[in-house]
Order: sequence, then structure tokens, then C-alpha cells
Amino acid sequence: MKPTVLITGANRGIGLEFVRQYVDEGWRVHACCRHPDAANQLYELAGPDVLVHRLDVADAGQITALAGKLRDEPLDLLINNAGVYGPPGARFGALEPEGWLDTLRINSIAPLLMAQAFRNHIEAGGGRTIATLTSKMGSIGDNASGGSYIYRSSKAALNAALYSLSLDLAPHIKVLILHPGWVRTDMGGPSGEIDAVESARRLRGLIADAGPADSGRFTDIDGSTIPW
Ligand SMILES: NC(=O)c1ccc[n+]([C@@H]2O[C@H](COP(=O)([O-])OP(=O)(O)OC[C@H]3O[C@@H](n4cnc5c(N)ncnc54)[C@H](OP(=O)(O)O)[C@@H]3O)[C@@H](O)[C@H]2O)c1
Repeated sequence: MKPTVLITGANRGIGLEFVRQYVDEGWRVHACCRHPDAANQLYELAGPDVLVHRLDVADAGQITALAGKLRDEPLDLLINNAGVYGPPGARFGALEPEGWLDTLRINSIAPLLMAQAFRNHIEAGGGRTIATLTSKMGSIGDNASGGSYIYRSSKAALNAALYSLSLDLAPHIKVLILHPGWVRTDMGGPSGEIDAVESARRLRGLIADAGPADSGRFTDIDGSTIPW
């Protein structure tokens, strides 16, 4: 039986590249996106081993509905990739709660709701791994420049929740907390240090090589540990 992965935010950026690379490697891929009708690049990859599902991760009802629809599908790997930067221009002096709360819902809360909803699927699979894309910008120890209140706090909250999850699910399920590098995507912009192909290739390597000691570790794209 082919190894199976479920990926959120699979229609563009690093998520789309994960789909391309896992299917090339012989995996079965559940590729989730919030607007399948507009996911043209994803549908170019669709086939017997790439199944496209509608999923807005900000909608808890959609998460539980998809988990129910896939109840008989063991998953080797869940990749929480979907994320947003948050409202542009949200600087101190102009902060507002609504965009911040929306960002927390997508970046911080949804990955945990996904883990909760798909726990049984992951326990039924062989790989037993939840990999979540966080950001070095969520590191308090690494923050030398300030600003980016919304994105930074959403990823710091995500990291705190994932660390708890790594303890709660040990030793059965590995919880990987991965910084993908500064990547040339819509979010990372054109000045990023690596492209999505390189980022997904290196992240797949980190996921494949992860051992129990890597669960709950804030891991940089080069495999080193990022301070919380
Ligand atoms: N690029 C970087 O340099 C960088 C650095 C550190 C961390 N990261 C993290 O890496 C992950 C992927 O980033 P990326 O660079 O590939 O970003 P991207 O190109 O902006 O793509 C973001 C993806 O997330 C999806 N998404 C956003 N909100 C969603 C929602 N509510 N429900 C479902 N999907 C949603 C988007 O779907 P739509 O097309 O529907 O909007 C899109 O597929 C994110 O978690 C990001 O925080 C990126």
C-alpha cells in the first residue's frame, strides 16, 4: 500500500510543491485547498493518487467533516502547511483585533484542530507524523527587529501548542515543528533565499529522517534547532 499524506493549503506555494514531490515519490496525496474551483495548478497534478478536497482550515466544521469523509483512510503524514501573514501594514499604533484573530484562527488554532480531527487516521497509518510549518519569526529568542506583531505572535502561539502536543502524543506520534526557510512564494516574496522546490525537498528530507528526539523541536530548514 502506498504511503499517504494529507496537505493543507495545497493549491500554491510550498503546499503545491509538496503535492508534486510526494506524488512523484509514489505517495498517495490528499490535497486540501479552500477554493478547489480556482486551484488550476493543483488540478494539473490531480489523478488517481492526488485527491483534491475543499478545506478552509479556519472553519472547524469543515475540518471535522473532512475527517469524517476520510474516516477509513489511514494517514502516514499530516502536513499543516496553510498559513497567512495577516493584514498588511498592521503596525503598532494601527493594530486591530479582527485581522489578528483571523490570523490566529488559521495559523495557531487550525493546525491543532487538524491534529485532533485526524489523530485516529494518523494512528492507523505507519508513519505516525504530524509536520507543521511554523516560522522563525515565531521565535522570541531570534527576534532582533521587532514589528510583525500578528504573524510573530500567531507562530509563537502555534509553537507553544505544538510543543504541548508533542508531549501529549509521545511516543506514538511525532510532532515536527518546521521552519521552511525564507522561500520565494506569494508570502515570502521575490527576495527569499530559496524557492519552493528546494524548500519542499529539504522539508521532506527532515520529515523522512525525523526520530523521536526531533518531536517537539523547533527545527530550521538546515536541521538546526531554533531558540523558542
Ligand atoms: N514563504 C516563506 O518564506 C515562509 C517562511 C516561514 C514560514 N512559512 C510558512 O509556510 C507555510 C506555507 O507558506 P507559503 O510561503 O507557501 O505561503 P503562500 O504561497 O502564501 O501560500 C499559503 C497557502 O495557505 C493557504 N491558506 C491560507 N489560508 C487558508 C485557509 N483559511 N484555509 C486553507 N488554506 C489556506 C493558501 O490558500 P489560498 O490560495 O486559498 O489563499 C495557500 O495555499 C505557511 O504556514 C507560512 O507561514 C513561509
